[in-house]
Amino acid sequence: MTKYIVVSGGVVSGIGKGVIASSTGLLLKTTGLKVTAIKIDPYMNIDAGTMRPQEHGEVYVLNDGGEVDLDLGNYERYLNVTLSRDNNITTGKIYREVIEKERRGDYLGKTVQIVPHVTNAIQDWIERVSKIPVDDTGEEPDVCIVELGGTVGDIESAPFVEAMRQFQFRVGYENFALIHVSLVPDMHGEQKTKPTQTTVHALRGLGLLPDLIACRLIIQKSLEPATKAKISMFCHVAAEQVLGIHDVSSVYHVPLLLQSQGIIQFLQKRLNLNSIHLTKEMTERGQQLDKSWKELTTRQERAFDEVSIVLVGKYTDLADSYMSVTKSLEHSAFRCHRKLRLKWVDASNLEPETQVTNPAKYHDAWGAVVSAGGILVPGGFGIRGTEGMILAIKWAREQKIPFLGICLGFQLAVVEFARNVCGVKDATSAEFEPNSTSPAIVFMPEISKTHMGGTMRLGLRPTVFGEQTKEWSRLRQLYGGADKIWERHRHRYEVNPKMISQLEEGGLSFTGKDEKGERMQVLELQDHPYFVGLQAHPEFCTRPLNPSPPFLGFVAAASGPHVLEEQLASQMASFKPPHPDDAMVSEDALRHTEALPPGKEVLLTADQ
Ligand SMILES: *[C@@H]1O[C@H](CO)[C@@H](O)[C@H](O)[C@H]1NC(C)=O
Ligand SMILES: *[C@@H]1O[C@H](CO)[C@@H](O)[C@H](O)[C@H]1NC(C)=O
Ligand SMILES: *[C@@H]1O[C@H](CO)[C@@H](O)[C@H](O)[C@H]1NC(C)=O
Repeated sequence: MTKYIVVSGGVVSGIGKGVIASSTGLLLKTTGLKVTAIKIDPYMNIDAGTMRPQEHGEVYVLNDGGEVDLDLGNYERYLNVTLSRDNNITTGKIYREVIEKERRGDYLGKTVQIVPHVTNAIQDWIERVSKIPVDDTGEEPDVCIVELGGTVGDIESAPFVEAMRQFQFRVGYENFALIHVSLVPDMHGEQKTKPTQTTVHALRGLGLLPDLIACRLIIQKSLEPATKAKISMFCHVAAEQVLGIHDVSSVYHVPLLLQSQGIIQFLQKRLNLNSIHLTKEMTERGQQLDKSWKELTTRQERAFDEVSIVLVGKYTDLADSYMSVTKSLEHSAFRCHRKLRLKWVDASNLEPETQVTNPAKYHDAWGAVVSAGGILVPGGFGIRGTEGMILAIKWAREQKIPFLGICLGFQLAVVEFARNVCGVKDATSAEFEPNSTSPAIVFMPEISKTHMGGTMRLGLRPTVFGEQTKEWSRLRQLYGGADKIWERHRHRYEVNPKMISQLEEGGLSFTGKDEKGERMQVLELQDHPYFVGLQAHPEFCTRPLNPSPPFLGFVAAASGPHVLEEQLASQMASFKPPHPDDAMVSEDALRHTEALPPGKEVLLTADQ
């Protein structure tokens, strides 16, 4: 029987419920259990692919091409698992399922209602998805963390709260625990318990009893014993059921903070976790994880040397839009024993026009770029700021500053090279100039049978390293010398097949391609300390203890040539890919796509 831990929120959202939920999952993993996670978002949207990044943060892509949000990324990273689009439940998805069933006549003409039809659909979904294997054991998870988005008491989350109320009886007391995350505001040094009392009261009114109350303090001061006693008293729980989570130096310390308050022992007792049979191997793995995690946090505290990276992008005012990129840099910096100093530069400030309209911004932006140890151009859509990005790439290439280009950054590195090395002065991307006569980047979607026409290349796809790359490709060494690697993709445009030979003659090497050799997926410069571009989004598969290889190489190179040498050697010796060699393009993706006819590039107009 799967054990379910539901994490709900009260008072306000955005106080780190996701981090508390994933830290709890991580701690259970250290005891040798297999853990999965489900995120419930009480919105009507069906997927995050169509939502604005400014409003919503990053669109996070899963192996199966599911476009979700950064919370699932959090779970994948903390729990070291691979989730699917079904691990994200939304009101829209549930309603669609119920309505489709109604249309098919599955309800035999009965009146279809929120209770029981919608609430049953929610429970069925959770039960089904909680049993899908998510790690390399290929076995059913022992524990499923269910994070309920929003706050209890919202109109939006009401059907989900009711579903959870019923669910505790469906699965039984011993298999269901609830952690309620609440805010404890600190007013002039006094920790206030009223909001927590109110939200717990509301929760009880809806038929859910908290097993643990996680009190978030948005300051660096821990929960006072008197506050804890008061919450215990007024919320009718034992003192051991009240946890304090204050601000700590980094989110990686949150699991340790929870552990020190006995959360593992509490859950073991409450859910009778000791009755789950654990193999010796799993127990040892758990112990190893516990040890590595503690080492990681200590190492992080003791890193004094800095590595300075500048990220040249769009939406730079919203760090959330590049969450996975930031995480990948952070994980890589841990590995290199460096403190990450990350600067954001809005690419349009690097353009000559800004020199005229806002010289201060222009000089600030260039000041950051020229003093950086490494320059990163991440993914993005649309034309704004791209000329600025191209200028930053030119600087990195000519001055031999470590450079990493992801997706759009990769494409712009090709455009820059075509213009400034191969002499194709008006080279551009067909995404920006559909009628360009010299596009370096063209529209090359995958062809979908079901959707009639091209679709985005989405989800896990293989990249094969060329034979000639064995000796020198640094990227290949970072992947442990593998012949073939798997990363997640999300794009429609690619390098123009007609321009490849010209680019290669100029000295640009496409070291990684798709299996048919038609799509250019990795570029490198041989006579440069680290100049790497990937069409894929490797940032989606980074792990705190296993940083994404392209990012690791980049941060190492930005830390100094000897650091890069060290990391290359260590990756060659011990890199373990997050996806097995025989990983597969998800069936779902295959059903909708087939490869392009050989040698035939499709030139259509941009479809934003
Ligand atoms: C789940 O999908 C919804 C609908 O698009 C999206 O808004 C939400 O952010 C997604 N949640 C997660 C955790 O991916
Ligand atoms: C993460 O999972 C992969 C396989 O899915 C495994 O090879 C690796 O050892 C795991 N990492 C940790 C730190 O447990
Ligand atoms: C491109 O050409 C087509 C027809 O040849 C024209 O309709 C369209 O407006 C042009 N687009 C641009 C951006 O110039």
